[in-house]
Amino acid sequence: MCGIIGYIGDREAAEILVEGLKRLEYRGYDSAGIVTEQGELFIKKGAGKIDELKEKLRLHEMPGNRGIGHTRWATHGIPNDINAHPHTDCTGKIAVVHNGIIENYLELRSELEKKGHTFKSDTDTEVIAHLIEEALKDSSTFEDALRKALLKLRGSFALGIMYAEDKEHLYFVRNESPLVLGIGNGEMFAASDIPAFLPYTNKVVFLDDGEYAVVSKDAFTVKDLGTGKEKKKEIHEINWTLEMAEKQGYPHFMLKEIHEQPKAVKEAIYGNLETIDQVAKEIAKYEKIFVVAMGTSYHAGIAAKYLFQRLANKPVLVEEASEFRYEFENIVDENSLVIAITQSGETADTLAAIRLAKKKGAKVLSIVNVVGSMATRLSDLVIYTHAGPEIGVAATKTYTTQLTVLTMLAIALAKILNTVDEDYLKKLEAELLELPRYIEAVLGYENKIKSLADELVDRRDFFYIGRGISVATALEGALKLKEISYIHAEGLSAGELKHGPLALIEEGVPVVAIAPSGKTFDKMVSNIQEVNARKGLVISLGDNEELEKVSEVFLKMPKIDELLSPVVYIVPLQLLAYHLAVLRGNDPDKPRNLAKSVTVE
Ligand code: AGP
Repeated sequence: MCGIIGYIGDREAAEILVEGLKRLEYRGYDSAGIVTEQGELFIKKGAGKIDELKEKLRLHEMPGNRGIGHTRWATHGIPNDINAHPHTDCTGKIAVVHNGIIENYLELRSELEKKGHTFKSDTDTEVIAHLIEEALKDSSTFEDALRKALLKLRGSFALGIMYAEDKEHLYFVRNESPLVLGIGNGEMFAASDIPAFLPYTNKVVFLDDGEYAVVSKDAFTVKDLGTGKEKKKEIHEINWTLEMAEKQGYPHFMLKEIHEQPKAVKEAIYGNLETIDQVAKEIAKYEKIFVVAMGTSYHAGIAAKYLFQRLANKPVLVEEASEFRYEFENIVDENSLVIAITQSGETADTLAAIRLAKKKGAKVLSIVNVVGSMATRLSDLVIYTHAGPEIGVAATKTYTTQLTVLTMLAIALAKILNTVDEDYLKKLEAELLELPRYIEAVLGYENKIKSLADELVDRRDFFYIGRGISVATALEGALKLKEISYIHAEGLSAGELKHGPLALIEEGVPVVAIAPSGKTFDKMVSNIQEVNARKGLVISLGDNEELEKVSEVFLKMPKIDELLSPVVYIVPLQLLAYHLAVLRGNDPDKPRNLAKSVTVE
């Protein structure tokens, strides 16, 4: 969704803002703009990519030592120069950038128009600038006016606000959309996401919903929007480095992140080894378990269902958070455990599901990558995935690390509950520690996968099939392909094939069969034969060489327990999606219409 970056200090603000916006590009956007101040406000904005705008509008040459930048992902009003942020009031002295949706903007706009305000854009954001202008008429300070105006808003918003006449400050507000302050030495930053200011500081302050920050170059104050009272905030030092947020020679972040998986999975294992038993102890008693998540994280939830059911005899209901938030009010209660899986910790639907669970008295455990994000602050328990920053819109290393910690949790539960044979658990634990090595091994298939991508680049549809825990891999493999290559793909349980989708299989249609040895291997072979009988093109992944005889392409996978296989088997499918996207001329880091964190509903 939209990205915000703010700077106040002694340096030229514009350069820092342009660079920060580049680092926020992965969030998805269609237009961008910047406001700086030197005596008066200077604003430049337009539709298009930052590099183009930088050259066309000379963004980086704007004057002043304080300013705010914005990348817009259109919600209200088409993507064009006028609707790009910042937006201003009638006097041109108040500039606002916004991430989120103002739900009551139509009624606010008509009230303001009746009072004589003139609107320039079709956005919901512009009402904020006019509301503050209106409130200034009977307020003694700008801050006072700001609070009065903001209390009228309904919806989700992260805001960056600048007033031409208040030269020492920038203002930032958070309500259901992410915003974090960066604390420098004699300079301050604010952004939607940490990588935007990571070159300058790793000291951060996370704003909570209903808070606003008054920021000068040497200090910041955080206050409650409702009461205006100051709040004590902790400064977190995060261990992300600049290198982590850079491509380091890779053509795309996604490829770098795919290759980082051995290290990321290792960090996920060792970062949780000592604490996972404690978390398992706290949740072992729950019988009513829900998993809520969206997208890739939802697929990790599907895998969790199989892990918890097979290892800990716990039935699990996996729901998309967008459904859970509206449909489960009567079902979730104080006897429930709700596991929320979210890389960003800021997905609007997942946060809403967590809030519902908390309201109903459930225990909430979050599996999160971004330290200090909103999900972590709303939950009773948190397991971090320790994957480091993920910049590519398509989730890769955060998925495999989610799977890793969920596997560790299921094993820890099985130990406590004595639900499976001890020797089997020991074997699983030993294999878990080997996961980074197995991933490294399958990364060696990259050239073979590239050639496969060459062959398949013009196909229109793909199918991904699996059984048991491999259904998660099928779904995730298909999602990766859709989102970055724009090829239609379906992931489904192989058992479902005959109930409809088989009608779509004809000569040459690629069917990726995820077939690790295990309970249903023979059934998978039968499904593969059904595809062969319709002349589909079978690409199989498995450790049993029998698959070679029934497949057009066979990727031999390491011999590993079926329950651990998703962490390894997804890697070649990520590579396949990546190379197909590149061959088709797409930018896999910034797929069309998509944003890294979906912070609005
Ligand atoms: C997957 O590649 C996407 N980035 C998307 O499906 C993502 O997993 C989903 O939006 C959930 O995000 P979260 O994990 O940050 O909550």
